[in-house]
Amino acid sequence: MSNFDSPRRSVAFIGSECHPFVKTGGLGDVMYALPRELVNLNCDVRVILPRYECIPAKYQEKMVYRGEFYMDLGHTGRNVYIGIMEYIEDGVVYDFIDNQEFFSGAKPYTNLVDDIPKYCLFGKAALAVLNYLDWIPDIIHCHDWQAGLIPLYLRTTFATTPVARAKSVITIHNLRFQGIYNIPTIKYWSGLPDFLFDGSILKQGQDDANMFKGGLAYADRITTVSNTYAQEIQTAEYGENLDGHLRYHNTKLRGIVNGIDYGMWDPATDKALTVNYDISNVLEKKPEAKIALQQELGLAVDPGKYVIGLISRLTDQKGLDLVNAVIPELMDGNTQIVVLGTGDKVYEDSFRAYETAYPGQFAACIQYDEARAHRIYAGADSLLVPSRFEPCGLTQLNAMHYGTVPIVRETGGLKDTVEPYNQYYLSGNGFTFDRYDAGLLLGAINRSKTFYFEDRYHWDEMVQRNMAKDVSWENSAKQYKDLYLELTQW
Ligand code: ADP
Ligand code: GLC
Repeated sequence: MSNFDSPRRSVAFIGSECHPFVKTGGLGDVMYALPRELVNLNCDVRVILPRYECIPAKYQEKMVYRGEFYMDLGHTGRNVYIGIMEYIEDGVVYDFIDNQEFFSGAKPYTNLVDDIPKYCLFGKAALAVLNYLDWIPDIIHCHDWQAGLIPLYLRTTFATTPVARAKSVITIHNLRFQGIYNIPTIKYWSGLPDFLFDGSILKQGQDDANMFKGGLAYADRITTVSNTYAQEIQTAEYGENLDGHLRYHNTKLRGIVNGIDYGMWDPATDKALTVNYDISNVLEKKPEAKIALQQELGLAVDPGKYVIGLISRLTDQKGLDLVNAVIPELMDGNTQIVVLGTGDKVYEDSFRAYETAYPGQFAACIQYDEARAHRIYAGADSLLVPSRFEPCGLTQLNAMHYGTVPIVRETGGLKDTVEPYNQYYLSGNGFTFDRYDAGLLLGAINRSKTFYFEDRYHWDEMVQRNMAKDVSWENSAKQYKDLYLELTQW
């Protein structure tokens, strides 16, 4: 069956970030890649985003005005301006919701005091925009807490409007962030009816409302970005206080693992690289990519060194306390470490201190730099992802696709996407450890080092195996399409 024999469905993707306009992490990658893949599966997709002031001018300039209206905002008594700015690329329509007062600033997220009103407005405006454009999708696909109120608005405020014909899906990219604030504030900004502020829907604890919790209760389906995470979040350890709520709703919950966009991530054509390669010449070209990286970052230039990369938001989620604890033991003169990331000051400072302590061996790039990330995926031998929890994780997928060996903790999507190396079957893609423990991380890194230095033949086979591994969106996008079809059987 060709993809276009599958019935056509229309989908509105609603979320708070999307590459290349605004991205702070993997959500931005998914909001970019999945709609494009769904277009190939006979879906008509519109992506609805805030028109943040921080979106680069080159995109702002290409947006086309599609209309405007005024919308009442919760119990504020105000009628606020909602503009629609449109941008179309590769069959995907992007509609940006314009309101300069709410979406100003240098970053998409600031603090909850500002973010709660921002995303109350965004959720309601997104549905109002669909009605205004008279584009009523089959499916409204919401992403993370910022879009959490949408399934609730859909069945209450908008229940008698055209958009209510749509079914809703909500995807959990990261349960750590939920949009929790006191009930009066969320009532004030959302205007949602009182009965929703019940313990089974929005209410959490005595006084708070939780935007994600409400969305999970009201959505027709819940997905998250790997099978293992779908199980984990139903336990107290990973459930972020919503494990009971998710167990209650688990018949509508499923895991669909993320992929990566092969157009955006292709070492053969990647414009950020100075050395391009594919599976046929990776063994000869990757050392050149490594030398280029060492030169760029001021490391000792020597392709014989073992280069370990780390590309990450620097937060507690990412297992950086484990990394910090083992660095001194890794700096043996044969190993180099490259860190790219921004985030908590404690990690930024400790990595800077290691750069000072180990000149030529340790590079701390405390910055967000998309092009440099590509060069690290290409130039490093291995990539660390020792996360405390990881809903899916994309850096290990990028790494494998660039012939780099992931070293990961067996949690969430890391467990589902990285098969541990098996020396008897000569199978697997990387090195893994289970408990959250610095000694186990060190053990996994040391196993990778020994393998690299003492069994290069099989290491090289793994490099090629990783490049050949299917980490595309193809299979996962089909699962989303199946889910949409399941919900819309007419
Ligand atoms: P998360 O969404 O939890 O941050 P993911 O692994 O899903 O983690 O996605 C992270 C994405 O952000 C990847 O595309 C990665 O390459 C990118 N990234 C993270 N930190 C940086 C950085 N400092 N510079 C450039 N890209 C980064
Ligand atoms: C979140 C998760 C990450 C996942 C990404 C995209 O930010 O932390 O694991 O890959 O969303 O789904």
